[in-house]
Amino acid sequence: MAYNTIIVEQNQFIAEIIINRPNKLNALNKETIKELSKALKNLDKDKNVRTIVLTGSGEKAFVAGADISEFANFSEKKGASLAKNGQEILFSFIEKMETPVIAAINGFALGGGLELAMACHFRVASTNAKMGLPEVSLGVIPGYGGTQRLPQLIGKGRALELIMTATMIDAPKALAYGLVNYVVTQEELLPLCKKIANKIANNSPVAISQAIKAVNAGFNTTLDGYKTEIEAFGKCFGTADFKEGTTAFLEKRKADFSGE
Ligand code: COA
Repeated sequence: MAYNTIIVEQNQFIAEIIINRPNKLNALNKETIKELSKALKNLDKDKNVRTIVLTGSGEKAFVAGADISEFANFSEKKGASLAKNGQEILFSFIEKMETPVIAAINGFALGGGLELAMACHFRVASTNAKMGLPEVSLGVIPGYGGTQRLPQLIGKGRALELIMTATMIDAPKALAYGLVNYVVTQEELLPLCKKIANKIANNSPVAISQAIKAVNAGFNTTLDGYKTEIEAFGKCFGTADFKEGTTAFLEKRKADFSGE
């Protein structure tokens, strides 16, 4: 499928999405949000895709935020619907996807850019990456889940300090905070993400999707995470992947989850 603002590549079980507006530091305009949503929906349905790596084009930015030029003159109502629509079609959607999404943060991840990375299942950063939620410097707050996911990932005090000061942290600090899992050079960033993606791809896709569901439930105040885990655990027993995984272990061979 052809897109204007993103590039989608697929190699065996791993898909890569590159946000491709380098002249605007990959800022998320309406079209980019729509195209990302569409591409991710399609990849999530594709049984040949086991892991997705999301990154930005160029050497400077992952995503430098929502496109400020698009919402500068919005009313209260339009502002609220911008956040609601974005959360529904992209940010919350990614978090709930059955296919794992890894954010490869190759530079600035600011505002909506950091929110996008935080909606992914985990993050890897390059040494030049800078992360922050600078919205209050623009007279607004994070609207794509940032006020919720940042405290979940780094704790309330650190999150509030970052949000209130509107400052950026560098990659080593993000690593120390647990916001990213690894920090490597720009050259090493995609190879490391793909290495992790390949490890994921060797495991049962059905079990992985149930694990995502159970972990997410623990952060959803309307759900009981332990109850969700019991249901998800039970569901696994009815799958071909479970039969293959346990049989392979007992037969002392490597499990094959290709479903063939
Ligand atoms: N929305 C729209 N355009 C953006 C953007 C954003 N969030 N971030 C960067 N751009 C555009 C700039 O307007 C500029 O476009 P131009 O060349 O047509 O003028 C281009 O990207 C390059 O950015 P520039 O500011 O010249 O790069 P820099 O290296 O001097 O600064 C940043 C980099 C990231 C510090 C700076 O771009 C910035 O502060 N961006 C906004 C970050 C932000 O507040 N994000 C949260 C939004 S809710």
